[in-house]
Amino acid sequence: SKLVGLVGWRGMVGSVLMDRMVQEKDFDLIEPVFFSTSNAGGKAPSMAKNETTLQDAFNIEQLKRCEIIITAQGGDYTSEVFPKLRAAGWNGHWIDAASTLRMEKDAVIILDPVNMPVIKNALAHGGNNWVGGNCTVSCMLMGVGALYKAGLVEWMSTQTYQAASGGGAQHMRELLTQYGTLNAEVKALLDDPKSAILEIDRMVVAKQRALTASETANFGVPLGGSLIPWIDKDLGNGMSKEEWKGMAETNKILGMGEGFNSAAIPVDGFCVRVGAMRCHSQALTFKLKKDVPVADLEAMIAADNQWVKVVPNTREATIKDLTPVAVTGTMTIPVGRVRKLAMGPEYVGAFTIGDQLLWGAAEPLRRMLRILLD
Ligand code: HSE
Repeated sequence: SKLVGLVGWRGMVGSVLMDRMVQEKDFDLIEPVFFSTSNAGGKAPSMAKNETTLQDAFNIEQLKRCEIIITAQGGDYTSEVFPKLRAAGWNGHWIDAASTLRMEKDAVIILDPVNMPVIKNALAHGGNNWVGGNCTVSCMLMGVGALYKAGLVEWMSTQTYQAASGGGAQHMRELLTQYGTLNAEVKALLDDPKSAILEIDRMVVAKQRALTASETANFGVPLGGSLIPWIDKDLGNGMSKEEWKGMAETNKILGMGEGFNSAAIPVDGFCVRVGAMRCHSQALTFKLKKDVPVADLEAMIAADNQWVKVVPNTREATIKDLTPVAVTGTMTIPVGRVRKLAMGPEYVGAFTIGDQLLWGAAEPLRRMLRILLD
């Protein structure tokens, strides 16, 4: 079987990827070579077969042995190693979770339930750079890709509610630590049912504002009991990089816009960090090209792939099935709150959620591996 190099398998995304690969028995089909940036020569994990020693992730000769390399090591690793590997004549398939190569002309953003034709076309033309999409974009398209595929979308606006995990493992720890610190600050008053809520509130905000630099080292400001309406870099034009990715990546995934034959569909809105753990949620506003009944839209969405699930637009179903807590750790992409908006019959709202470590990061990578092995 094919030698498949695995880099960054110990981190958060890498660990989720390894779990999914074990669950789906991907290791039965490959000869894995485990690489390490820090522990070369050590013992590979139990999924190893003949290659039981960890190889140096910076050793180009060792990497070159692999027909396929999957990395969740991060953008710095990609920037350093990928150009050297290609310069050394390596023609294998590079499957990457990092954003570094995403917008390169010869890279395909992989999300096969949504863009299998784009992937197949690139494969037929010798493509070998496969990059996972931004988590928010991938989860959104798994939910409402059907409307794009049907050519119904004139534009879309998205307001996101993004989880701490999008920043990384340390960000999740920081959020929970902040929640704990705030709770401890007012514990005695909370335990006393007769205490005054405004006194509790005053103490909480005083503590939030007094959090030290080390208590906010990852997010820069308090997130527990607050939110941060800026994610990723400041592009200097009023947009955050996360907001820019929404339109750029949605169109590239669908094979539209720059470098393709059809015009880009406008996608824009605000990306907001909230105190959820690992599910990204989004409120979507569509301007459709024509008036389509809600029932038809829901039917199209439901029929698009086996993971999307339409949640009836009722209070009871929404609070039960359309929350980060309900979705975390599952492959399900719920889409709910589908309704016509007051602006007119072509204006439709929806709300969708996805586990940003599964569909948002790990799953498209292992599915690309399976496509290459087919
Ligand atoms: N940029 C995303 C976030 C992470 O910060 O939530 C995954 O693309």
